[in-house]
Amino acid sequence: MFTLLVIAAGIVAAYLLLHLMVLKLPKCKSNVQLHGKVVIVTGANTGIGKTTALDLARRGGRVILACRDKRRAEEAILDIVKETGNREVVFMPLDLGSMQSVRSFAENFLKSEPRLDILINNAGLMNGGQTVDGVGMIFGVNHLGHFLLTLLLLERLKESGSSRVVTVASKGYEFGCIDFSCIDSHKDLGLGDSDWNLFEKYCHSKLCNILFTHELAVRLQGSNVTCYSLHPGAIKTEIGRYARFWWKCVMTPITALFFVDAVSGAQTTLHCALQEGLESLSGRYFSSCSVQEVQAKAKDDKAARKLWEASERLCGMS
Ligand SMILES: NC(=O)c1ccc[n+]([C@@H]2O[C@H](COP(=O)([O-])OP(=O)(O)OC[C@H]3O[C@@H](n4cnc5c(N)ncnc54)[C@H](OP(=O)(O)O)[C@@H]3O)[C@@H](O)[C@H]2O)c1
Ligand SMILES: *[C@@H]1O[C@H](CO)[C@@H](O)[C@H](O)[C@H]1NC(C)=O
Repeated sequence: MFTLLVIAAGIVAAYLLLHLMVLKLPKCKSNVQLHGKVVIVTGANTGIGKTTALDLARRGGRVILACRDKRRAEEAILDIVKETGNREVVFMPLDLGSMQSVRSFAENFLKSEPRLDILINNAGLMNGGQTVDGVGMIFGVNHLGHFLLTLLLLERLKESGSSRVVTVASKGYEFGCIDFSCIDSHKDLGLGDSDWNLFEKYCHSKLCNILFTHELAVRLQGSNVTCYSLHPGAIKTEIGRYARFWWKCVMTPITALFFVDAVSGAQTTLHCALQEGLESLSGRYFSSCSVQEVQAKAKDDKAARKLWEASERLCGMS
């Protein structure tokens, strides 16, 4: 009995130590204020997007929550206004799974907002199915919608001085690859809708986020706009909410024990959006508030250009 207690205490202590040493993520150190600045955060009604928007609002920025669900967005706005006292937090409808919606969002935004200082491409999902344009859902929302959104807002970013585009990718990109023939034939990154297929497509889409940022930096040379991609950490959010039962059975205990809260999950996004002096690192990938090397496939110039061109074609821009 006593031995069992000692073992149990040992396990608890080891776990707490692990939490303190490994699972604790660094905080964004910048104390930049954002009065007079305009920021867009996609998918800001929950998870990492919400904690990111809250921090930016606390710094005095005008924060646009670009979300697909009005009710969920307005609930988040109530929370953010209550917590920060900043009333310049507004909802603008954006469904990244519809190119028409992305275009309307951009039109709305460009009409009503004279500047754009920070664009945060944060929204993401792991669901099956297709977008209204017949593009694979994961590729369509995680990559293509953000690609189109960024391009439509690029002029405003350039006009606004030293502005930034921050795209939330994932370390899961390491499991990703990009099948261009599948994109051409099926407007998707892969076929199949099993849990495993969805996870694979998710990793492919996160590789797209990093390659997009890599190519965008090249195209932005000579402007004052810079861009960054990042891994937020393993974070407790709603991202698994549509997963099937058995996947939840596997992930729930792992998440409960090893994933950290969404405030920690926002820190690397905030670092990329705010930290002074990052400009020379445009196009790079960050994790734990510092720049990281990526695998060769995530900085492959040819693949990045090819993905850009395929994305333009799918968005009807070439
Ligand atoms: N959680 C992690 O451990 C982790 C790890 C690595 C990377 N990431 C990345 O972090 C980002 C944020 O994810 P999260 O973990 O915070 O997940 P989350 O809690 O599920 O939040 C995702 C957000 O994206 C929005 N969204 C989904 N589809 C959309 C669409 N078609 N149009 C507009 N918005 C849409 C969701 O809106 P609704 O509420 O309307 O669905 C929600 O606001 C994602 O890019 C994800 O890939 C997360
Ligand atoms: C970039 O910013 C610098 C310093 O503010 C300015 O002199 C320069 O004209 C800007 N360049 C472009 C292309 O806007």
